[in-house]
Amino acid sequence: MKLVFFGPPGAGKGTIAVKLAEKLGIPHISTGDLFRAAIKNQTDLGKKVKQILDSGALVPDELTVDLVRERLTAKDTNSGYILDGFPRTIPQAEALAGITELDAVINFEVSDEILIKRLSGRRICSSCGFIHHVEFQPPKHEGICDRCGGKLIQREDDSETSIRKRLSVYQNQTAPLLGYYEKTGLMIDIDGAPAPAEVLSSVTAALEHLK
Ligand code: AP5
Ligand code: MG
Repeated sequence: MKLVFFGPPGAGKGTIAVKLAEKLGIPHISTGDLFRAAIKNQTDLGKKVKQILDSGALVPDELTVDLVRERLTAKDTNSGYILDGFPRTIPQAEALAGITELDAVINFEVSDEILIKRLSGRRICSSCGFIHHVEFQPPKHEGICDRCGGKLIQREDDSETSIRKRLSVYQNQTAPLLGYYEKTGLMIDIDGAPAPAEVLSSVTAALEHLK
């Protein structure tokens, strides 16, 4: 199954994608995670995009599309994948349509008030990237990743200024894609406000109808 997870920053795309990918046995491909890995490994790509990510702006389409195109040539994508955070602009969606045919675009709907609470309390593992939240998904031991025991950190772009910037970038540059995907008939709206287990079951139920 080839899925896109769509929605504003903090909507829960990564949280739900990890669980669904495991359930379906397909890879979870997050462009944000790929960029953060490049930054951590100080690759050429990482050096190019570090400041852009920290500020909350979008990486240029060409760089992003090349990265995804390359990732989708890997064998593990043969039986499907979840694309998380890609596409985010109309040119990216058009490029993706030239690469593959999607089964569905899952649109997570969450109010700004909740998004801000989620982003400001998020903690990720500096080692494996696993997502926690100080209040909503607290780690068993403070500051320590439940999955691998790594150190929990705050993402550079989860500062108050970057969060504000990312929400406005979403409204101006990414939300126009809602209309694009509505026209294709691929869009499935999901209420992203309830707890993760409930959101996951709504997504699973919606996908059942596709079969
Ligand atoms: P990216 O990493 O994709 O960030 P984002 O879109 O801003 O989305 P987030 O990862 O912040 O949110 P999420 O929806 O995954 O929420 P999460 O599950 O973590 O992109 C980062 C940057 O990379 C961009 O700003 C841009 O610079 C660049 N980039 C990436 N893709 C690009 C593209 N296509 N084009 C150009 N540039 C690109 O959850 C958030 C928090 O809430 C967590 O703490 C979690 O524990 C908690 N939570 C989640 N779900 C729930 C729930 N149901 N109930 C309670 N708490 C919850
Ligand atoms: Mg994410």
